[in-house]
Amino acid sequence: MKIAIASDHAGFRLKEILKKHLGEHQFFDVGTHNEDSCDYPDYAEQAGKLVASGEVEAGIVICGTGIGISIAANKVKGVRAALCFNEFMADMSRRHNNANVLALGARVIGDDLALRIAETWLKTGFDGGRHERRVAKITKIESNC
Ligand code: RB5
Repeated sequence: MKIAIASDHAGFRLKEILKKHLGEHQFFDVGTHNEDSCDYPDYAEQAGKLVASGEVEAGIVICGTGIGISIAANKVKGVRAALCFNEFMADMSRRHNNANVLALGARVIGDDLALRIAETWLKTGFDGGRHERRVAKITKIESNC
């Protein structure tokens, strides 16, 4: 799968670990590329735009808590970023919310859990059905605002 991946300085180390362990996927790494202090919205925007334009199929964004970078990614029209702290949330965010961006908090969860969350999220599909209507209503909010 083609995946945009982004982090700030707090998420940089985990970003590199995910790329190494999920080698079957093709990553478009928009940065950051070191642990120098930087601003997560800059990277969230780049990854979100790649997802929204269809250039990649999914995105993974990482900051310290996952909060800031998920808020920022969700400002890109067409992005549904889900901040997940466990595998159940990862599974549900795909099956029920059709999330197209996974957000992780590198200072909140350990590397092994982060990897399991990412693997679960990447292999899980959207259930559709009644969830289609709900996700369509999320999209309608974007056009109404
Ligand atoms: C950076 O110090 C930190 O604020 C950032 O990584 C993130 O946690 C923000 O939500």
